Amino acid sequence: MNATTDFQIFETKSLAPLDAREALIDEVWRGLRKRPRSLVPWMLYDAEGSRLFECITTLPEYYPMRTERDILASYAEEIVTAVGSDYSRPLRLLELGAGTAAKTGILLRAATRLRNEVIYFPVDVSSDALDAACDSIGCLLPDVQLQPLVANYVTHPPKLERFGGNTLAMYIGSSIGNFSPEEARIILRNLRSQLRTGDALLLGTDMVKDVATLMRAYDDRDGVTAAFNLNILHRLNRDLGANFDTDCFRHRVRWNRVQLRIEMHLESTCDQCVDIPAAELSIQFAAFETIHTESSYKFTQKTLGALLEDAGFTIKQSWTDPRRLYALTLAVVQ
Ligand code: AVJ
Repeated sequence: MNATTDFQIFETKSLAPLDAREALIDEVWRGLRKRPRSLVPWMLYDAEGSRLFECITTLPEYYPMRTERDILASYAEEIVTAVGSDYSRPLRLLELGAGTAAKTGILLRAATRLRNEVIYFPVDVSSDALDAACDSIGCLLPDVQLQPLVANYVTHPPKLERFGGNTLAMYIGSSIGNFSPEEARIILRNLRSQLRTGDALLLGTDMVKDVATLMRAYDDRDGVTAAFNLNILHRLNRDLGANFDTDCFRHRVRWNRVQLRIEMHLESTCDQCVDIPAAELSIQFAAFETIHTESSYKFTQKTLGALLEDAGFTIKQSWTDPRRLYALTLAVVQ
């Protein structure tokens, strides 16, 4: 594959494009007719799924979100300082999958203290999320210039205009963990092709750790993650007229120690037949048969280094929490 010059486009759609219903039908047709059966993570995030994910981030067992926020809060100034030395020049902060920018404010605040001019360029598929992001950053830090872009950064990698300062690309929230190593490499290479010498990437990744801690984070006592996973079936019932009996499927979590990833599955509790009229499908599930709904890759220093290097970045510095659960890695373009 070509290193960093041209955009590479996925064969499969990994994030919901504008025509969500067509995309749902496509993915259902592709993923439920084969074995092992699978669906794709973006399908988890309808309005109810997004609400449930917000709940997950407040669970005691789910450490990644709050750990990342704590690392950012402790080291924001150090991170911005490590990006570049010429403080008189503007800093452009590009954020992939910005969402509502809940954690980004911490870094932007540090950036405004250290740099004369700061431009925030958030990219997200959800225009609602971007509106919320700009409202909150605009209120918190009125000096920051806002340049929001509604786009799927996977299928339509954002292009950066030439500019007389440094760019810091942020890809946090462990979002990269939802993608296979091949997909992750394409995302980072596309990003690298837009950056220039002196620019940098701040990447947030969840790290490999004891299996019990990992499993608990995806199989919480209150069953919030189970509800989040099962919601994908409610969505197919609602959006595609399917007749999944959600009592006949259960949330299953596995640690895949070969691929270093947590997997979420939905397991059929009995022999059953499900109709999905909009996709013109009828599917026979055997008892214990599973649908793989999400992978969440965990990293080691070695796999992280390999991924970044392969995409044309050089690791400059990394920050972690006292238990080394999570890492923020600054990689530069040389
Ligand atoms: C949003 C992809 C970071 O993998 O931890 C949380 C999604 N799934 N609980 C993750 C998720 C189940 C989350 N990411």
